[in-house]
Amino acid sequence: MTLSSPSDTINTWQESSVDGLQVLPLDCVSLDQLLLGGLERGVITKVYGEAGSGKTTMCLQAARECVKKDFQVVFLDTEGVSVKRLRQLCASQEMMQTVLDHMKFFSPTSFAEQEEVLKEVFHHEHVGLVIVDTMNLLYRLALEDEFDSARRGFIRQMSTLQLNARLHNAWVLIAEQVYTDKKGVIQPFTHKDTGHMVKTMLRLDKLQGARRKAVITKHRCQPEGASAVFSLSQGGLE
Ligand SMILES: Nc1ncnc2c1ncn2[C@@H]1O[C@H](COP(=O)(O)OP(=O)(O)OP(=O)(O)O)[C@@H](O)[C@H]1O
Ligand SMILES: [Mg+2]
Repeated sequence: MTLSSPSDTINTWQESSVDGLQVLPLDCVSLDQLLLGGLERGVITKVYGEAGSGKTTMCLQAARECVKKDFQVVFLDTEGVSVKRLRQLCASQEMMQTVLDHMKFFSPTSFAEQEEVLKEVFHHEHVGLVIVDTMNLLYRLALEDEFDSARRGFIRQMSTLQLNARLHNAWVLIAEQVYTDKKGVIQPFTHKDTGHMVKTMLRLDKLQGARRKAVITKHRCQPEGASAVFSLSQGGLE
């Protein structure tokens, strides 16, 4: 085994992308500024927030933008994703067709099946982005059946995502539902077990009407609490 110095490791990582892309812009100015360009590559980004806060819209928009960069996208859907909404996000029928041609959808119906799917998604050719919307729905059901084994399964699944994101230099975006803790703070459903495996965490808050606020709750190069306001529109996040 050859040992490398930390500076070698950093250089290798920075230069490891043959296409030169390290972030995936979401094509939403305020969010992209907040994220220092977009979703970070090779790590897990988690977006969480209450119902209707825009999690799925962000996932679909990230998929659209990733397809524009000519990557394949895998979308693990536990919620019943709306094709109609994806169509709204695509400016034309041609764009919609291109997006569909570059996307593979999986709809696991059990937590065990989700794990099996996650093990193989990174092996699809030219996968740039893996999306899980949402990461916790089937987990929540599994917890009710068998608490300890569900928790172990969740950690395994997150480890699979983390390792493969790095190995394949892929973007990984997971959405999570929330609960309100004893202090009244909105928390992602699974934070405690695996917070360290996620490098960017973004909470989406509902403001008035279509306006939403994205708040950084974890980032490697941005302070916690940094935020950006955007709107949900027919065309997605603006
Ligand atoms: N065509 C549209 N034009 C404007 N806003 C829209 C349109 N379609 C959906 N929305 C907005 O997006 C919201 C739904 O966003 P989204 O599905 O991304 O939320 P979510 O966080 O994934 O919610 P959930 O937790 O229920 O899955 C709606 O409540 C509405 O405010
Ligand atoms: Mg959703």
